[in-house]
Amino acid sequence: MKKIAIIGAGNVGKVLGYSLKNKGYQIIASFSRTEKARQVAAKLFDCPVFSKPEEAVENADIVFLTTPDQAIKEVCDCIAVNKGFTKNQVVLHASGAHSSEILLSARKQGAGTLSLHPLQTFPELEAGLRSLPGTFFAVEGDEDVFGVAAEMVQALGGQMLSIPTDMKVIYHAAACVACNYLTSLMDMALKMYGLMEIPPKKAFESLSPLIYSTLNNIGKLGPEKALTGPVSRGDLTTINSHLEALTKHAPELLSLYKLLGSYTVNLAIDKGTLDREQVEKLNTLLGGKE
Ligand SMILES: NC(=O)c1ccc[n+]([C@@H]2O[C@H](COP(=O)([O-])OP(=O)(O)OC[C@H]3O[C@@H](n4cnc5c(N)ncnc54)[C@H](OP(=O)(O)O)[C@@H]3O)[C@@H](O)[C@H]2O)c1
Repeated sequence: MKKIAIIGAGNVGKVLGYSLKNKGYQIIASFSRTEKARQVAAKLFDCPVFSKPEEAVENADIVFLTTPDQAIKEVCDCIAVNKGFTKNQVVLHASGAHSSEILLSARKQGAGTLSLHPLQTFPELEAGLRSLPGTFFAVEGDEDVFGVAAEMVQALGGQMLSIPTDMKVIYHAAACVACNYLTSLMDMALKMYGLMEIPPKKAFESLSPLIYSTLNNIGKLGPEKALTGPVSRGDLTTINSHLEALTKHAPELLSLYKLLGSYTVNLAIDKGTLDREQVEKLNTLLGGKE
């Protein structure tokens, strides 16, 4: 039974710590800065909760640093300069933006270091526990301790995705594109519906079948084969009419429309549906590469 210390019992610390405890891991200690948070964590994990992180990591096989991103290095270094880490420990953090390299102070003391990022959103305990099964966990770091992460992910009902350490930032940027920029894209479409005085809720409802079947097609066929619409057909008249309408009614959306259109021209080239002349004319209209 592996012994875990949860350092920073916030949203992720609580969800992962509580789930691992229910799957047979032993949460032997936790760290929280305030008395109130210590009481909550002590009740949830049924373990002692310390006000100094270095006291919580003693006797732990696995040290899970689940503080906010900006505090991970500071807390790791604080433990390292005080009682320190041991050779048999595995030290992990859950950040998507940082690699395991920020755990260098633990590594220097012989501990195995990993980042284990759940590609999921945890707004609070209950919702987090519900969304955990099936979640992908991106892992990178010391390959000789990958097995420890794999066991944890399996216990959590998740799936492991191994990524190269030097591409961790690209991994995170991709997740931002898929999640945050998809949100921005939907906002843009809803704003255009707003020009017709269709409220956002109704707009989303009417676009939903289109959105979900597009996502489904991308999953099944890949982006190239899933691509339909005027760019992939080389329909210059329609694209031109979009540009004219946006210039008149929503000029602030024009540059993003053109940029996405240019990106889509390249996708259509890969799909093989455009001839050279269509590509040149579309690029001239959308301001893409000649
Ligand atoms: N939430 C998500 O959806 C999500 C998803 C994937 C990955 N992550 C990653 O998981 C990690 C934790 O995120 P979270 O959302 O759980 O954060 P959070 O809810 O803010 O919890 C972090 C906990 O760390 C402690 N803490 C805060 N500032 C600290 C500091 N300066 N020094 C020491 N401890 C501090 C706090 O506990 P006390 O107040 O009790 O001390 C806080 O409850 C981050 O690396 C984040 O990127 C989050």
